[in-house]
Amino acid sequence: MQKRSLGVVQLWPLLLAISASSALFGVLAADLTKEPFTIRISCGSFDDVHTAPTNTLWYRDFGYTGGRFANATRPSFIVPPLKTLRYFPLSDGPENCYYINNVPHGHYQVRLFFALVADPNLDSEPIFDVSVEGTLFSSLLSGWSSDDEKTFAEALVFVQDSSLSICFHSTGHGDPSILSIEVLQIDDNAYKFGSLWGMGTVLRTTKRLTCGSGKPAFDEDLNGIHWGGDRFWLGLKTLSSSSDDQPISTENVIAETLLAPNFYPQSMYQSAIVGTDRQPALSFEMDVTPNKNYSVWLHFAEIESGITAEDQRVFDVLINGDTAFKDIDIIRMTGERFTALVLNKTVAVSGTTVKITLQPVEGTHAIVSAIEVFEIIPAEMKTIAQEVTALRTLKGSLGLPLRFGWNGDPCIPQQHPWSGVDCQFDDTKMHWVIDGLGLDNQGLRGVIPSDVSKLQHLQSINFSGNSIKGNIPFSLGTIPGLRVLDLSFNELNGSIPESLGQLTSLQTLNLNGNDLSGRVPASLGGRPLHRVRFNFTDNARLCGIPGLRECGPHLSVAAKIGMAFGVLVAFLFLVVFSACWWKRRQNIIRGQKLAAAREAPYAKSRTQFTRDVQMGKHHRPHESPRGGNNESSPHLLS
Ligand SMILES: *[C@@H]1O[C@H](CO)[C@@H](O)[C@H](O)[C@H]1NC(C)=O
Ligand SMILES: *[C@@H]1O[C@H](CO)[C@@H](O)[C@H](O)[C@H]1NC(C)=O
Ligand SMILES: *[C@@H]1O[C@H](CO)[C@@H](O)[C@H](O)[C@H]1NC(C)=O
Ligand SMILES: *[C@@H]1O[C@H](CO)[C@@H](O)[C@H](O)[C@H]1NC(C)=O
Ligand SMILES: *[C@@H]1O[C@H](CO)[C@@H](O)[C@H](O)[C@H]1NC(C)=O
Ligand SMILES: *[C@@H]1O[C@H](CO)[C@@H](O)[C@H](O)[C@H]1NC(C)=O
Repeated sequence: MQKRSLGVVQLWPLLLAISASSALFGVLAADLTKEPFTIRISCGSFDDVHTAPTNTLWYRDFGYTGGRFANATRPSFIVPPLKTLRYFPLSDGPENCYYINNVPHGHYQVRLFFALVADPNLDSEPIFDVSVEGTLFSSLLSGWSSDDEKTFAEALVFVQDSSLSICFHSTGHGDPSILSIEVLQIDDNAYKFGSLWGMGTVLRTTKRLTCGSGKPAFDEDLNGIHWGGDRFWLGLKTLSSSSDDQPISTENVIAETLLAPNFYPQSMYQSAIVGTDRQPALSFEMDVTPNKNYSVWLHFAEIESGITAEDQRVFDVLINGDTAFKDIDIIRMTGERFTALVLNKTVAVSGTTVKITLQPVEGTHAIVSAIEVFEIIPAEMKTIAQEVTALRTLKGSLGLPLRFGWNGDPCIPQQHPWSGVDCQFDDTKMHWVIDGLGLDNQGLRGVIPSDVSKLQHLQSINFSGNSIKGNIPFSLGTIPGLRVLDLSFNELNGSIPESLGQLTSLQTLNLNGNDLSGRVPASLGGRPLHRVRFNFTDNARLCGIPGLRECGPHLSVAAKIGMAFGVLVAFLFLVVFSACWWKRRQNIIRGQKLAAAREAPYAKSRTQFTRDVQMGKHHRPHESPRGGNNESSPHLLS
């Protein structure tokens, strides 16, 4: 089985052009004159890879966070096999992602092949989960690497924000290892199964079988077109090992193939499995995850030579015992032989198997060309974008160690939130928000960015027991619902921002064991009375509330400015006072001289002299013509 050229050579430089022109696809069906958006990545590869001789282009590795490259083992369905992979050691964090940008809005088939690191000493089959756009759609379970059918995973997903994220979530057993990633655009209405279908669902391909040929095949091998997403079909010659059914095939052209929205290739219908006289019914059974909804697609075409008219083959379709379709007569329904018929049915499955039975009416045999089964997964809602950005800033600013990961979306998939982050679903906004940060005792050495306040839904912050430096950001006081703020046992310095007094919901404030200085804001000082728990101890330079020392020379900047201003005023006052005193003294001396001149007694007191001088001013203007300049001074003092 080989993959042929897909005509995506040279696509890379054209990505921008494609994303511009694809805006049209928003509501329209596939425009067959255009090529769908297609990206294939050979993980761990430094160079673009062409899988000669078929010339499918696999881009060199890009767009990932973390991980290492290695040589790959395990055969995959890609021929010839890709030689490298990327794997993600747990020490690099539990969440690792590929981000593929400039992806036009639309509907995509995302397919991943997995492989093992080619190291004979490494006997670890990794067990991990895979998500696309935050929705978990595949879990690799023990034994996957020895079952070809389980070496790949595929999902159909809508991309709405031009960036596609594919994340790998460690479960602690081995290092997730990825061979290849394919992002293949399909028709916006592909696999429209009913009312649940749409942006709110992700379809996981659970099974895709072409019957009768016995060989696995991609759409390309079956002469499909690119809008079909180059589906991968497992081949079956018989539906179950114990049954007596038979493969048949034809060279005839099959009508009604390659039609929108699913563009099924014609070759798929040129082979089939049919029942026999001994066993006219057909039945196929597969294991599934219980308590999920499944979308089942069945493909038929009348290709058996003996069946040429209506009523010669009539059968019911039962899924887990319930009649899904009654009295299927392919020729009656399509009008002709060699014409494709596609039926789909959505079923809720409570058990661990899906059993599809084609039960013919008396005297006829059942037939089936292909079977597809998809698990219907509700798509996760993302975390509000501003808060994701704020967490990324926090990650850098606090210097979060690699082991934290913190890639992808913080809250989804819900099975794998970021460690240290508590999430809550906001029903009104239909987004996840962050309501808690627990990064206590993690050896953090950075600073708290003021952007932390963009996490407006936080109720609790615990950064206790790290080596966080710098100041407590003023902006923390703007998180309205903050109830717990524990920054104890760090190396924070500077003063406690006044803004913390605005936190009306605050219940616990632990700032003990830092290097904080200055006065505890008055706005916080009264709170212990209101049953808010505080701890400010073990900050040698902090003062101002009972239990801490008295505020001495260590004053806030404002207080220092205030004091400096006070001193200046006092100084100016002193200067003026001295000047006045000196002038008054001059007046006294002059007064004495005047008195002497008038032969007044020397024994007059100063005040009397003053009064005399004042009276002199008001009542004896004729006196002391030179005293005019000084006359007001005694007024100032009186
Ligand atoms: C991968 O295989 C190539 C030979 O195919 C070899 O030269 C190279 O050293 C291998 N790389 C690693 C990381 O084992
Ligand atoms: C799938 O089945 C539903 C009803 O069961 C039908 O409305 C829909 O057209 C079918 N989809 C396709 C693509 O045939
Ligand atoms: C299955 O679909 C029904 C609606 O048809 C829905 O109510 C139910 O929640 C779905 N179950 C699961 C597990 O998604
Ligand atoms: C913060 O974490 C520390 C260390 O794990 C813990 O002792 C403390 O109780 C936590 N603070 C609060 C307010 O829960
Ligand atoms: C706080 O500590 C930093 C070094 O960690 C220093 O640069 C800064 O001047 C200190 N600020 C105060 C107010 O002590
Ligand atoms: C405050 O923190 C100190 C350690 O810094 C501790 O010894 C003390 O018990 C705490 N006080 C209260 C009231 O929790």
